[in-house]
This record gives sequence, structure tokens and C-alpha cells, in this order.
Amino acid sequence: MSDRVYIFDTTLRDGEQVPGCQLTTKEKIEVALELQALGVDILEAGFPISSPGDFNSVVEISKAVTEPVICGLARAKKEDIECTAEALKFAKRKRIHTGIGSSDMHIKYKFNSTREKILEQAIWAVKYAKSFVEDVEFYAEDAGRADLDFLVKLTEAVIGAGATVVNIPDTTGYCLPHTFGNRIKYVFEHVKNVHQATISVHCHNDLGLASANSIEGLVNGARQVEVTMNGIGERAGNTSLEEVVMIMKTHQDLKLHTNINTKLIYPTSLLVSEMMRMPVQPNKAIVGKNAFAHSSGIHQDGFLKHAENYEIINPQEVGIPSSSIVLTARSGRHALKHRLEILGYSFEKAELDDMYKKFIALADEKKLITDEDLQELVAEQYPVK
Ligand code: KIV
Ligand code: ZN
Repeated sequence: MSDRVYIFDTTLRDGEQVPGCQLTTKEKIEVALELQALGVDILEAGFPISSPGDFNSVVEISKAVTEPVICGLARAKKEDIECTAEALKFAKRKRIHTGIGSSDMHIKYKFNSTREKILEQAIWAVKYAKSFVEDVEFYAEDAGRADLDFLVKLTEAVIGAGATVVNIPDTTGYCLPHTFGNRIKYVFEHVKNVHQATISVHCHNDLGLASANSIEGLVNGARQVEVTMNGIGERAGNTSLEEVVMIMKTHQDLKLHTNINTKLIYPTSLLVSEMMRMPVQPNKAIVGKNAFAHSSGIHQDGFLKHAENYEIINPQEVGIPSSSIVLTARSGRHALKHRLEILGYSFEKAELDDMYKKFIALADEKKLITDEDLQELVAEQYPVK
């Protein structure tokens, strides 16, 4: 038996906060429909009070997208909660995501407040949001650096006030996998009413640990994970949807599964990258251009003998048609022979050795060898009489 993990996608809210990535309502609907097809459970459509455009996008997404729960962000403020409730009015299933800072850093320097006042405001915000919708998620901002006993008190209080989900975010991407996992464990061990709500994790990638931290949170009992496609988001970004989903799928021993149709991961990644004008780094796990490309002779030889020598995921599982063998000056004879055969050429050993020498000389000059280059090499060596 494996446990179901709910995928809360915030590409259109936290992801869209990246400078230069803002989308029109029409573009947002297109991305939202793709995320629906991908199988996300909760879709955070925006932060309605932030601008009339964002408000309108949440309204239109609520009309167009009917399968996932549609969620809107609201600070623990009357006007935010009212505005979000209004923006969600057409949603078939809706959630208000409200919250406030939980670390002493945020309490003192962001809110100029005290733990007691924050606790009161949090309880008030959840109850107020509950007067509009049944499903209310509370975020304890900067929980990664919050005093653990205060975090326990806050979590218990907001669940008591009716929160259906409590989000424990590592807002600054500060935690290490074991410290974040221990936080979630502590919450489960000390919050008396913890089983009346779902615990969610929302990790940022400032130290490149967002996916590892999220997985540790899930291993320690969280059952919702907040992610963005391609890991986009403020600063170094959010947890990547494709990474956590494929970690769960690849490591069945974790006994965690999602509803994601993984074959749509790559098309969704391309759409988000294109719409948000945010290129994906070539070595990005799962969806980068080089994620299934083999370029050194040793790897190519091993891969050609058996793909699993160098691949832990079949690229087709994530919607990438095939792996690639890239021909460079680091490639070996086996890769050259393989490529030539695909192009319809077959050579005896001595001929291939000769061809390989010429290929290496050219690759040193050109870096990357294309099929046209190979065709020219063959034509030079064996001119048609
Ligand atoms: O990173 C964070 O803490 C957030 C909250 C608003 C949920 O994005
Ligand atoms: Zn965030």
C-alpha cells in the first residue's frame, strides 16, 4: 500500500512572481488547462488582491478549470480574504490560502508584532476565511526558521480554528533535509489535533535543497507538496513538480504516489518555459535538454549496451520521445558506429577506424558533430565515382 500525496501547484502564483514572467489572463488559462491535464490536485491561480489583472485571472481560471481545487492567496487581512473569496466565486471547488509570518525574524522585523498577537491574527484569519469557504489552508510563513514550540502552538490553534491544511514553508530555503524533516516530525509528534488537517510542505531552493527538503517532509508525514513547473519562483525558485513526482515514482520504497500523468511532464515544462520566457537550464533534472543526452565515450558505450546502465528513468515516461547520443570529441567508436548505422551506413572495422580518426579531428575543431557533418565525412572518404 502506498500513500497518496496531493500536488499543490503554484506555478501561476509563486512561480509567476519572477520578474519578467507575468502572464496575461489568456496565457494563464492555457497553462492552467495544461496543469489540469497533468493531474495537479490543487491549482493556486494567483494572489487576487495584488492587482486587478491577477484578480481577473483567478476569476477566469475558476470558470475554465473544473477538476483541481482552485486556490487563491490572501494575507491574514480582511480585505485580502474578502477579495480572494470574491475572485473564487465561480470555482467548482475552492480554497483560500491565508497566513502570516511565524519566525521571530518575521514577527519582529516584518510585522513589528509579538507571538501572541500573531497567534490571534492567525486564528481570526482562518475563521474569517471559513465564513466564505469550507476549505482553508493556513501558511506559517518562514516556518523553516520559526521557534519549533511556537510553530506547534500556531499549527494547533489554526487547526482548532478550522484550517483543513497547514502549510509549513521553508520560505527562505534555509533548512537542510534532515532539519526540515525533523521539523515536520516534531509537528506530528506535538500538535494534538494534527490528524484533523493535512500538513503541507512548501520549500524554496536557495541552497538547491528544495526537492530534497520536500521529500523529507513527505517521508515524515506531510501529504501535500507545493511545487512549480521547472521549479520557477522567486530568487532560486520553488520545489520542482517534475523532480518530486519522479523521485516518488522512481523510489517506490518511499510508498508515496501522486495522480500526475508523468507523460505530460515534458510538454507542460515546454509550455511554461515558453509562456514565461524562462529557459530551462540544459542540465536541469528530468526536463533539461541534456537530462537524457549521453556524450562521453564510456557512457555512450554503456548506454548502447543497456540503457539502464546510465538511465534511471525511461525518457518516454516523462514525455520525451527518446534519449540522445551526442557526438563530440569525447565520443567513442561505438557511438559513431551507432549513429552511422542510423544514417544507413555500415563499415568494416578498418574503415570505421579510419572514419573515427577523421571524426575526432573534426570534433576537436567543431565541438558538436551533426548528421550533416557525418554525411560529409562519408562522402569525402568514399566519393561517388
Ligand atoms: O514561501 C512562502 O512562504 C510562500 C507563502 C506565501 C505560502 O510562498
Ligand atoms: Zn513561496
